Amino acid sequence: METLIRPLREADLKEADTVFRLSFGRFLGLPDPMSFFGDADYIGTRFRADPLLSLAAEVDGKFVGSNFIANWGSVGIFGPLTVHPDLWAKGIAKRLLDKTMDIFKELKTEHIGIFTFSNSPKHIHLYQKYDFWPRFLTAVMSKPVNPANPTKQSQEIISWTKYSNINKERRSETLVNCYSLTDSIYRGLDLRIEILSVANQKLGDSILLVDNKNNRLVGLAICHCGQATEAGSNTCYVKFGSVVGNEDRSASTNFDNLLEYCEHFAASQGLSKLVAGVNIGNLAAYRKMISKGFKTDYQGVMMTKNNDPGYHMEDVYAMDDWR
Ligand SMILES: CC(C)(COP(=O)(O)OP(=O)(O)OC[C@H]1O[C@@H](n2cnc3c(N)ncnc32)[C@H](O)[C@@H]1OP(=O)(O)O)[C@@H](O)C(=O)NCCC(=O)NCCS
Repeated sequence: METLIRPLREADLKEADTVFRLSFGRFLGLPDPMSFFGDADYIGTRFRADPLLSLAAEVDGKFVGSNFIANWGSVGIFGPLTVHPDLWAKGIAKRLLDKTMDIFKELKTEHIGIFTFSNSPKHIHLYQKYDFWPRFLTAVMSKPVNPANPTKQSQEIISWTKYSNINKERRSETLVNCYSLTDSIYRGLDLRIEILSVANQKLGDSILLVDNKNNRLVGLAICHCGQATEAGSNTCYVKFGSVVGNEDRSASTNFDNLLEYCEHFAASQGLSKLVAGVNIGNLAAYRKMISKGFKTDYQGVMMTKNNDPGYHMEDVYAMDDWR
């Protein structure tokens, strides 16, 4: 059996999507494994975000698995990692992970992590071989969308806009402001690739929370909307969201507004469900989401290289699940 790890190509996408659904569906014991993930798309959307950071595994010339890297500046995430069930336990995932770790080395990524099944010894042990250690649970949460408008008071002090509403000439400045925001949460954390991926692939929009007093960006939420995105039908999925405090408002208050505006945005798109993941390391954000009516649909565990907590700290208001 000859295994080759190579860059994923556009021509592999259909096969990669099949292996992705089949492998998760089989692992979870679903009667119809291919129904897993419904009409959401992870494979095509992640490949197009940066084709150079997508890997394929071939055995004897046949496509059998893939893995994807998200390069968030100093932070890197990988997955979904999938191998065709007929070839499990033959070391193929490890070959994909060897190459993945080489890429992180080239990118000089400082904080690397993954979201995985907390109840699976196979998964935990596989990643431990690469010095990833289980930390807090990550809750994938949701709430039904209430289409009511945001409160008047918050509109006066803080307002929101969408990245798609920003004039073309001001977009690069906006992206720099987004980077400054995430960099202030964790040095080098850079979500620009995800904002651009959503904009270029028309997957949804990015919500920008602005302090009207000094026109400063104080919050950001990158949202996927509907089918053929990471959200799936009727759903707005916050892939990443975070806030900082400003002069006279705490991060906690700004987070209230960000959640409110995400819901308002979802309603404006005609979507009925708002989904966002939060790591329980971000305890204040997790508590806030519970208080705002979010319920956990399922949970996994975050594993990080060297057991590094990164920005998943108690007082950091961030939403992401690294799925
Ligand atoms: C998870 C998955 C990618 C693993 O692929 P794979 O090619 O079978 O994995 P490998 O053969 O490379 O490695 C598995 C390793 O885990 C080890 N392992 C498996 N079960 C184990 C257990 N209970 N305890 C300890 N180690 C275990 C194996 O021994 C092997 O390591 P070794 O060869 O050094 O002994 C594959 O099962 C899959 O596609 N699953 C469905 C999708 C999925 O869950 N993806 C990952 C989401 S985070």
